[in-house]
Amino acid sequence: MGNSNSLIELQQAMLRYRTGKVALSGVSLDIHKGQFIYLIGESGAGKSTLLRMIYGGVRPTSGFMTVQGVDMRKASEQQVRTLRQRIGVVFQDHKLLFSRTVFENVALPLRVQQWKSDRLVSRARKVLQFVGLEDRLWSYPEALSGGEQQRIAIARAMVATPPIILADEPTGNLDNETATTVLNLLSALNEMGTTVITATHDLQFLESHPGRVLRLHSGSLVEDSYAGNE
Ligand SMILES: Nc1ncnc2c1ncn2[C@@H]1O[C@H](COP(=O)(O)OP(=O)(O)OP(=O)(O)O)[C@@H](O)[C@H]1O
Ligand SMILES: [Mg+2]
Repeated sequence: MGNSNSLIELQQAMLRYRTGKVALSGVSLDIHKGQFIYLIGESGAGKSTLLRMIYGGVRPTSGFMTVQGVDMRKASEQQVRTLRQRIGVVFQDHKLLFSRTVFENVALPLRVQQWKSDRLVSRARKVLQFVGLEDRLWSYPEALSGGEQQRIAIARAMVATPPIILADEPTGNLDNETATTVLNLLSALNEMGTTVITATHDLQFLESHPGRVLRLHSGSLVEDSYAGNE
């Protein structure tokens, strides 16, 4: 628990689901501020589980884990809720609300933090500008393409300027060009200081967007390397 640069630390963290399935078996890992991390590995390797654990959606069954200084095994529900306000998520199953406008979707994390209404629109406009969709503020998500919806999800993830952004296969259903746009946005956020952790099957991005590669295999961390041009 010593290193002040550690944003996320795991020591022999194990996760067993209620079904008895051990999805992560004794993972030790140290993630520092400002890193760009690719989480890779076969289907069922434990990538989504690790992201879920960082978000406090599931707690480690044994071992030690801290996220932004919060002990994830001992934290109260309230502590986890507060932590979540400092983590942006672009989860595959974390869909936009289709009955709400783009503005309402993007503003949601700020409403949780009780931002005053008059500041909401200008902040939402600013992050939509960042993802290149400022003209869609009052649209409904169904009127947007899959790639545009994913950019809205990124806008929502970044709106409260969280130190960490988690993305679970954010380019999964996108064509190459659109996927590149999404990766470019995550990289730009990373360059602004956000720690980005993305689970992906798209290894092609390692060349254009270098980062630390963590490979899980069957619940174990089997590779921790740096890929890219540096
Ligand atoms: N809620 C759950 N209850 C029980 N078992 C689960 C649950 N979620 C995942 N698992 C199991 O845990 C293991 C790890 O799943 P996880 O979703 O973390 O894999 P993944 O690496 O994200 O795979 P994919 O690339 O297919 O998304 C799998 O064997 C899966 O079946
Ligand atoms: Mg997954």
